[in-house]
Amino acid sequence: MDLKSLIRDVPDFPKPGILFRDLTTLLQNQAGLRYVVDQLVEKHRHDGLDYVAGIESRGFIFGAPLAYHLGAGFIPLRKPGKLCRPVYSVEYTLEYGSDRLEMHQDAIQPGQRVLIVDDLIATGGTAAAAAGLMAQASAELHGFAFIVELADLGGRAKLPDVPITTLVTY
Ligand code: PRP
Ligand code: HPA
Repeated sequence: MDLKSLIRDVPDFPKPGILFRDLTTLLQNQAGLRYVVDQLVEKHRHDGLDYVAGIESRGFIFGAPLAYHLGAGFIPLRKPGKLCRPVYSVEYTLEYGSDRLEMHQDAIQPGQRVLIVDDLIATGGTAAAAAGLMAQASAELHGFAFIVELADLGGRAKLPDVPITTLVTY
């Protein structure tokens, strides 16, 4: 399937000079949504995962159906202040300022196998923070899965040396 034809290119969003890859048009396409989830399932069917960890918010959209089909649990990695029990927390830098990802401390037992999922990797700061949460929990990070990689931004260099699945590269 030609996924790029289902992803909308939006110039000058969120600011001038940025070409935004908009996945809402892929999501609303019934065949496209099924295809990307099925692709991720096929690539990770034999990983023996305990959990899929999805990054708020767009990682939730792809992570939950993937976990369901793999027979794994789903763990939400959330923006600050959303989780109700003690958390591990990792701060990461954005173009302007910083943000934080959090995970419940009791979500994962040491050594359990986890795949981190998000819709897109750009600079890699968000996914690297998610990996930091797995390290705090002494989880076994099996790998990462993204629908889209913006390769020019070099995000994968920030990630630990584990397998990375991507379905579309710009
Ligand atoms: C987007 C995207 C990734 C992250 C990628 O999320 O969904 O999580 O940016 O950027 P990076 O590789 O440079 O860190 P955003 O922070 O816009 O949040 P959202 O999913 O809630 O829209
Ligand atoms: N599309 C969607 N999310 C993003 C992008 C993009 O082009 N860049 C950084 N996050």
